[in-house]
Parts: sequence; C-alpha cells; structure tokens
Amino acid sequence: MPGLLLGDEAPNFEAETTQGRIRFHDFLGDSWGILFSHPRDFTPVCTTELGRAAKLAPEFSKRNVKMIALSIDSVQDHLSWSKDINAYNGEQPEEKLPFPIIADANRELAVKLGMLDPDERDKDGMPLTARVVFVFGPDKKLKLSILYPATTGRNFDEILRVVDSLQLTAYKKVATPVDWKPGDSVMVVPTLPDEEAKKLFPKGVFTKDLPSGKKYLRYTPQPE
Ligand code: BEZ
Repeated sequence: MPGLLLGDEAPNFEAETTQGRIRFHDFLGDSWGILFSHPRDFTPVCTTELGRAAKLAPEFSKRNVKMIALSIDSVQDHLSWSKDINAYNGEQPEEKLPFPIIADANRELAVKLGMLDPDERDKDGMPLTARVVFVFGPDKKLKLSILYPATTGRNFDEILRVVDSLQLTAYKKVATPVDWKPGDSVMVVPTLPDEEAKKLFPKGVFTKDLPSGKKYLRYTPQPE
C-alpha cells in the first residue's frame, strides 16, 4: 500500500521544484523537515495556507525545520501562483516564496506518498491531492503525519505546536499532555523509572494521586 507510516524513512525521491531539481535527502540534510501537500494551484484554501506558511517560515527556521510544499501542477504554474500568494499576504507579487514547491504534475509522488483525496476530483475526474503534513526528524524518519481532506485548511499554529512537542520528545525525553502549549508543564514518559526521572528533571517531578493508586501521571516543568 502506498503511503508512509510513523518511523518509515523518507523516500529519497528526485523532483522538480520552484527552486530547482532536488533530491529529498540532500534537501533535508541534517535538519528536520516538513512536507505539506496541496490539491491544486490557484485554489482558494491552498492560497490562504501557503500565505500563512510563508509568514511562519522564520518560526520553522528557528526550529531548524526545512519547509517544502507539493502541488500537482507545473513549476511554471507554481511560480505564477506564488505571485498571487505573496499578493494575498499584502506583499510584492514576486515568484519567490521562502520554501520550494514540488511540481508533481503527473501525481507520481502523490500516489507514492498516499496523498490523493478520492472525494475531490479535477474536471477530468482525476483525484486531487489531500492536505498531508509529514514531519521528518534529522534521521529522515517520519515523526508525524496529519491528513486533512482537500476542503479543510490546516492550522499552522497547531503544526508549529506539534513540532515543539516532537522536539521536546527528541531532545528532552518528555511527552506533552492534551492541549499543551509551549511553557506548560510536560509529562514524564511511562517508560522512565522514578529514580531516573528525578535525576533527569532537576526542576522536580510532580505526581497526581489517582483512585487506582498508580503513579503514572507525572509532570515536570518544561525543560529548557
Ligand atoms: C481549495 O484550495 O480551495 C480547494 C481545493 C480543492 C478542493 C476544494 C478546495
């Protein structure tokens, strides 16, 4: 079955983009990466999403996350559409965005990565791309995937939030609870014994008492 599962290595595909031909692993280098797909160029929801993604590019860069978009049109269309996206953002209608857009005109990558939305079709009856979010770690393994239908625009604040959570797990060995926001307390993972947790989290570990008597709800202030 096409698609990617958590822990899978990113395929090292070659593709034409608005910033030239890339090989995906070289593009990622040692960074984190986010690949987000779009149904089609010159469509309203996609334009708002790419505008927001462009505005948030410094936030992704701060987190060492390389951004790349994908849409099933040509490089020429992508460049022309980029002018609209910049204008939508109230900026000069330039062809340049702070990230490349992959041209997947024959849907080869969309099929390989399991990105097609069977409910949304073009005038020829061909399925459009869904709104997929893949976040890859520096080891090029898939750390997160979110799949929206073509008709629902993503929440890029949420995407930054999950990147923060993924990076806390990767670098600080903690998990983040429901509705967590940066600065809130985080959770000690169940596999870490109490003694090790005390050493690892000098700000303290706070356990909530539960009717079961089990001491698994362990919080610690967000590590620096
Ligand atoms: C849009 O980006 O507005 C869109 C694209 C495909 C289907 C529905 C909406």
